[in-house]
Amino acid sequence: MTRRTRDFTVLTGTTGIVLLLLVANGALGLLEAISALIVIASVALAYFAGSAVRVAPASPANDAEPAASGANLPQADLLAALPLPALEIGAGQKIMAFNGAADDLFELSSLPFARASAVIRSPVLLAAIDDALVRREDGPVGVSAELETGPDETWRAHVSRIPASANVLVLMEDLTPVKRAARARADFLANASHELRTPLTAISGFIETMRGPAKDDTAAWPRFLDIMAGESDRMSRLIADLLSLSRIESSEHVLPRGREDLTEIVSASLAALQPIAAESGVTLRIQDAPPGLPDITAHRDELIQVVENLVSNAVKYSKPGSEITLGYGASTSLAEARTAASQRWDASQRMTLLQTLARTSAPEPAVWLRVEDQGPGIEREHLPRLGERFYRADQSRGGKITGTGLGLAIVKHIMAHHRGGLAVETRLGQGTAFGVWLPAARD
Ligand SMILES: Nc1ncnc2c1ncn2[C@@H]1O[C@H](COP(=O)(O)OP(=O)(O)O)[C@@H](O)[C@H]1O
Ligand SMILES: [Mg+2]
Repeated sequence: MTRRTRDFTVLTGTTGIVLLLLVANGALGLLEAISALIVIASVALAYFAGSAVRVAPASPANDAEPAASGANLPQADLLAALPLPALEIGAGQKIMAFNGAADDLFELSSLPFARASAVIRSPVLLAAIDDALVRREDGPVGVSAELETGPDETWRAHVSRIPASANVLVLMEDLTPVKRAARARADFLANASHELRTPLTAISGFIETMRGPAKDDTAAWPRFLDIMAGESDRMSRLIADLLSLSRIESSEHVLPRGREDLTEIVSASLAALQPIAAESGVTLRIQDAPPGLPDITAHRDELIQVVENLVSNAVKYSKPGSEITLGYGASTSLAEARTAASQRWDASQRMTLLQTLARTSAPEPAVWLRVEDQGPGIEREHLPRLGERFYRADQSRGGKITGTGLGLAIVKHIMAHHRGGLAVETRLGQGTAFGVWLPAARD
């Protein structure tokens, strides 16, 4: 039911009920009541049904003579078929016709037969419309104007004169996604250069010191060199992370094809991780390989990177003497896999950072992996932003733990690439668990 049919029904219905009550009460004769209802109903019909055609009454300029070829087309139908908000505006800026998308954008049906200036707020667009209306030459000569319609919303209006008619067509194009992508790209570049410049500044600073003030203080050099080595490590890590992020992004549309065994991927990842855990005095406990684990369709190196990133975070944010548990297994559906991976603790804060899109309505067998630590936990306000490039929750804690803030972004990208999911569950002061899941390989 359209808004107009509903308005018509409500108005006539209410009037009918009121009249009925008055008749029952004896205050009004039956004949008077019926005539009143007919009058109300026809006024309502004329009003609502009239505007439902979405064409305002033709202006004098319009009914002068039907123009050649194209003008034989019913304009309102043509506009309705356009996927973008579109309006036809005639002499005196009167809105002649519009489509549903334009109605949603400008809320035109609340003001039927309005002038453009009553619904369009932008002076730039109104000026462009005026300009097109007075322009003498025919043809689709157009102007476009960019409009900032909200804090994070940009539209471009294309205003062009309809050939062989005095009217103009306004077509609205949503630039918001384009602008947003451009901003994300600019932010990324700014962040990346900032992150690279910080260690570089430190290194150049020490070089200057060793050349100048500390030239003869060779006893202090080993300490300077240590710091410089640390900073250059940090730069290499950052570049390695940036490279793997860009590699994953560029292969995003190539679906993983290898048939892999999660148990094998876990043990391959742990070869590199055991020494790191041992060095930090953290115990890494691996749950036994679950029986009957189905294969997965995966890119082996990428999944190893997922395990490495999650376990190395757990090690990095854990205190010596604490324990990290890695568990994995199979589930009959993606939803169950998510629960197994990331919803195990009572009274924990939970956040799904990447949701799986089910391919079929039938449950799809899946596998999950969960890395649990006894670290400090993560404050609730950080959770939604984990997985954003360069976002580091412990920066605000003034933590001296180094990192790039790219690890979880990489994990999230890889899981998206595998049509999988990522979630976190955390309890302050008690620990954090990150879980990932993905569909099992199909036979
Ligand atoms: N196991 C964990 N325990 C506590 N905080 C974590 C854990 N894993 C990740 N975080 C938080 O999430 C942030 C982002 O992680 P990540 O993308 O791997 O970056 P990085 O480890 O380089 O800082 C970290 O800076 C940290 O604040
Ligand atoms: Mg990390």
